[in-house]
Amino acid sequence: MNNFSHVQMGVDYYPEHWDRSLWVEDAQKMKEVGVKVIRVGEFAWSRFEPKEGLFDFKWLDDAIALFHDQGIQVVIGTPTHTPPRWLTEKCPDILPIQANGQPNHAGVRGHRCFNSESMDSYGSRIVAQLTQHYKDHPAVIGWQTDNEFSLTYCHCESCNARFREWLQNKYSSLEQVNQEWGTVVWSGEYNSWSQVTTPIGGSPFQNPSYQLDYYRFQSHSANIFQQRQIDIIRHNCPQHFITHNFHSYPQKLDLYPLGENLDVAAFDYYPNTSPNKTTTGPYSGALSLDITRGIKRRNFWIMEQLSGPPGCWMPMWRTPYPGFIRAYIWQAISRGADTVVQFRWRSANIGAEQFWHGLIDHSNIPGRRFEEFTKVCAEVNALSSTLAGTVLRNDIAILHSHDQLVALDIQPQSEGLDYYENIKCWHRTVTKLGLGVDVLNWMEHLSDYKIIIAPSLYLMDPAVATNLASFAEAGGTIIFTHRTGVKNMNNVCLMEPLPGLLSACAGVEVEEYDPIGNDPHHMVTADDISYSCSQWCDILKPTTAETLAWYADDFYAGKSAVTVNSHGRGKVYYLGTHVDESYMKVLIEELVEAHDLMIFPELPEGVQVSVRVRDSQSFLFILNLSREFQRIPLDSSYESVLYPGIKHPNTLTLEPYGVEILNMHNNH
Ligand code: GLA
Ligand code: ZN
Repeated sequence: MNNFSHVQMGVDYYPEHWDRSLWVEDAQKMKEVGVKVIRVGEFAWSRFEPKEGLFDFKWLDDAIALFHDQGIQVVIGTPTHTPPRWLTEKCPDILPIQANGQPNHAGVRGHRCFNSESMDSYGSRIVAQLTQHYKDHPAVIGWQTDNEFSLTYCHCESCNARFREWLQNKYSSLEQVNQEWGTVVWSGEYNSWSQVTTPIGGSPFQNPSYQLDYYRFQSHSANIFQQRQIDIIRHNCPQHFITHNFHSYPQKLDLYPLGENLDVAAFDYYPNTSPNKTTTGPYSGALSLDITRGIKRRNFWIMEQLSGPPGCWMPMWRTPYPGFIRAYIWQAISRGADTVVQFRWRSANIGAEQFWHGLIDHSNIPGRRFEEFTKVCAEVNALSSTLAGTVLRNDIAILHSHDQLVALDIQPQSEGLDYYENIKCWHRTVTKLGLGVDVLNWMEHLSDYKIIIAPSLYLMDPAVATNLASFAEAGGTIIFTHRTGVKNMNNVCLMEPLPGLLSACAGVEVEEYDPIGNDPHHMVTADDISYSCSQWCDILKPTTAETLAWYADDFYAGKSAVTVNSHGRGKVYYLGTHVDESYMKVLIEELVEAHDLMIFPELPEGVQVSVRVRDSQSFLFILNLSREFQRIPLDSSYESVLYPGIKHPNTLTLEPYGVEILNMHNNH
């Protein structure tokens, strides 16, 4: 298979949007600045198959030939995100049906039901034709399936039929469905399978077990849809890699099964350019990158990266500040991106996305942003072989779960309790200390790690509970929080003290709880320091655990809020409340010391570090993702890899959006 792990730059290119005379110029200019790869084709179905059964790849052949002449490689996106009008007119069953019974229409995009039979046959045919045509093309190296999968919330006949089949597969009988979902409530019992439909009407107050299964079914539908394409691509192009461009987390779509049969995951990265987001943006961006790396637990691609002010779907955001584009490209690489593909070469002068700006403005005169991009291309190309094969190795993991996200959204627990926002808090705390962290599917093997942070594992799978308990027994440290072990996997409350299956390993039971939401509350530690807490208070009764903090307010003042239990050779923390980030920091600092991990204790706000390693070599990336000059204390003097010949004594000063990469060995 073609190697997909070069550290290199690319651009998204739409030859069908431009006059042919521009193709040559564009290809030459790309070569000149050092672009190595383009992505094409992902919306071009109406050009690939202008009429039913009439296939035309000549135009793309011509375009690709020009890029090939310049040594530029090509990833092709399958065009199934945008079925052409002749097709949706002929086969309206392709159009997803909304909860109100109305179809989506052609003309925007994503107007295709994953379960439509017409979509299956026409979609499979265009993918087969494309892959047949390009299987031996020397410039083509890989494929992107569709574009930015998300749930369709479709209620068409086919989705209804497939949903019933999915349930019949999961449950042994309709009686079992009634039993597991608890449909007796509000006389919701089903007497025949024909009564089981998708949640038409879309009320959020329908049975929560049913709703969760509908979400799972939809994720499964996206998976089957993608798998058909993967099978065709693998069959026709066994030497090409396959990826998908995931986007904007959190997604209710389950990323992990979709990633399973891909060779490499990709992410579309649009960090927020607003000056008001400078304190949060770099951290939620870092989390997105870490989640993407976790999909396949390896390096990934950025298939679209911010190149100018985005707009059209909303009023335009601010233009990227000088250095922003470059710094965020390096941030992506620092957290495991190998290829970074910029969206897009030139801003579209036609169509709905005219103001989602590319590297070059409508005038086609390369400006400030293009110049910055040119600089990064040169830097990335200069370091490509140095960084080749380097990866991240972390001792801490945060568990992330689509099931928890969806279940907590179906039944919001208290004002302000947001599963993904809570993950962000933990991730930000760890990142601010300069620690690397992996973000993984909660069902993954954990033995590589020393510390696991597991916010709100609300639904509990007995196999995961066992896995977590053994992790602690073997010497690992786990942090559990409020809303853990509440339900079984069918979204039904357990009739046992919380945290349910984890009570024994946490050494604690929840006596009662108070969904405090945003009402101010506090807790106090043994050294008499008070911290604010919010969202929720589990009033804890330690069985074997020791108390680390006590509530300070309300009728439960003096009761345990935070505990730690020795379990086997490890330690299990239980935080009954959403603790303030300052307490998260104190806790993580303690754990880091116990596990002897390296931190950067005085990282200024907005500065991020991460390390890519290969054998005995390690490269320390330091990124100033802020608009101010920042000074970063270093524990010794290091040589720059980015600016050869420069050595930094014990401190490094970075300009706004400045970047440095240091060689952590040969440092004296
Ligand atoms: C997504 C899509 C692109 C483009 C950008 C900007 O990431 O994949 O096609 O539309 O958004 O909106
Ligand atoms: Zn459908």
